[in-house]
Amino acid sequence: MSQRIFRTGALLAALLFASQCTKKEEAKPPAPAAAPAATAPAPAAPEKKAADGSQPAIGAPFVRVPLGLDPDLNIPKDNPLTPEKVELGKLLYFDKRLSKDVTISCATCHDPKRGWTDNQPVSAGIHGGMGTRSAPTVINSTYYLLQFWDGRAKSLEEQALGPITNPVEMGMGSHDEMISTLSNIQAYRPLFQKAFGDPNITKEKVAMAIASFERTVLGGNSKFDRYSNGDKTAMNESEIRGRELFFGKANCTRCHVGSNFSDSDFHNLGVGMKKPKPDWGRYDATKEEKDKGAFKTPTVRDITKTAPYMHDGSVATLEEVIELYDRGGEPNKWLSEKVVKLNLTAQEKADLVAFMKALDSSPYPSVEEPKEFPQ
Ligand code: HEC
Ligand code: HEC
Repeated sequence: MSQRIFRTGALLAALLFASQCTKKEEAKPPAPAAAPAATAPAPAAPEKKAADGSQPAIGAPFVRVPLGLDPDLNIPKDNPLTPEKVELGKLLYFDKRLSKDVTISCATCHDPKRGWTDNQPVSAGIHGGMGTRSAPTVINSTYYLLQFWDGRAKSLEEQALGPITNPVEMGMGSHDEMISTLSNIQAYRPLFQKAFGDPNITKEKVAMAIASFERTVLGGNSKFDRYSNGDKTAMNESEIRGRELFFGKANCTRCHVGSNFSDSDFHNLGVGMKKPKPDWGRYDATKEEKDKGAFKTPTVRDITKTAPYMHDGSVATLEEVIELYDRGGEPNKWLSEKVVKLNLTAQEKADLVAFMKALDSSPYPSVEEPKEFPQ
């Protein structure tokens, strides 16, 4: 058992090392099946490693966390993760009756069949109204310390209530309107009773149930994870070179770091800054000048499924993403100093793309829409 923990510890230590070690091109990818790290953290979860390398989530052993992901799912103390809440949250996630005209659910824009996004540059909501940002994936969203491209929500619970009353998303006049709609659906009451020990429906409980469901949407056990865990046959030559570049010369781990490849921090790459009215991103939430045009670092796991890319969906392919980084981002007053010209060769660009494709999860976290909803 301890071997696996040491491996995880070594991996984390190496990732941390790679993220800090950015001055020169000396960062190294984590060695596969490295020797035990002296600073390996103490195991916090009972280790029951399955053949596929998954392990039970800390505090919610009924959830299997795929190989490569942190078993700490950031479960809030006041919202323990239970199977009953996850089941209820799944129904609410897919239930179009949470929208004003019964046409839109969370799954409309975060569709499990489309990488838990809508594969649109920006999302269309109720009455075809267009938002201004691209829908991020829900996969592994529990690992972000802040939610939304600008980080304005502190948790999945806080995030979940936003879209329901957003006039261009689900368009409910108020959360009271949603509560009265749900309270009129008799069969929801026993499900709230089971999940919360009390049949009354409140917006807080709706948010807690949806967040609980989202917390179980996990993508890992990619070729990269299996390779890093010691299976040297899991990645091909190009993917291995791409991995070296990602953690080394190309500096991607200055921001895409940790088990979900995000520092949960905000950076300006210059995307969309040439528009007449740019989206100021993180600045909207903090009003700090330095945050202008900065957006949250998104995960690169399951990235093949979530095109188009960036907060405004303006980059169509992974090849174009690499071109953007190669030229050092788009020049603007607030460009992150961590984005620098890379001068990659054609082969190196192809290798980086191959590496990102090797981050597809196995199995992909697919969830079927419920066949029947409470009436
Ligand atoms: C009309 C499309 C639409 C609908 C409906 C919708 N979302 Fe979103 N969602 C978005 C967009 C666009 C963003 C990014 C907005 C931003 O960052 O300002 C987003 C952001 C998120 C995020 C943050 C992810 C991250 O990486 O920061 C989560 C989680 C999420 N939505 C879950 C939900 C849930 C749960 C529901 C249902 C209650 C829902 N969404 C309904 C379009 C939608
Ligand atoms: C300075 C921090 C930083 C560095 C360095 C960095 N990224 Fe990013 N990455 C981001 C941020 C922030 C975004 C979102 C920017 C936006 O939408 O405006 C992003 C977006 C992406 C996306 C699109 C994800 C999506 O869901 O839309 C991919 C793919 C990506 N980066 C890959 C890479 C690769 C490969 C490298 C190394 C060559 C790299 N990144 C280096 C911070 C960084």
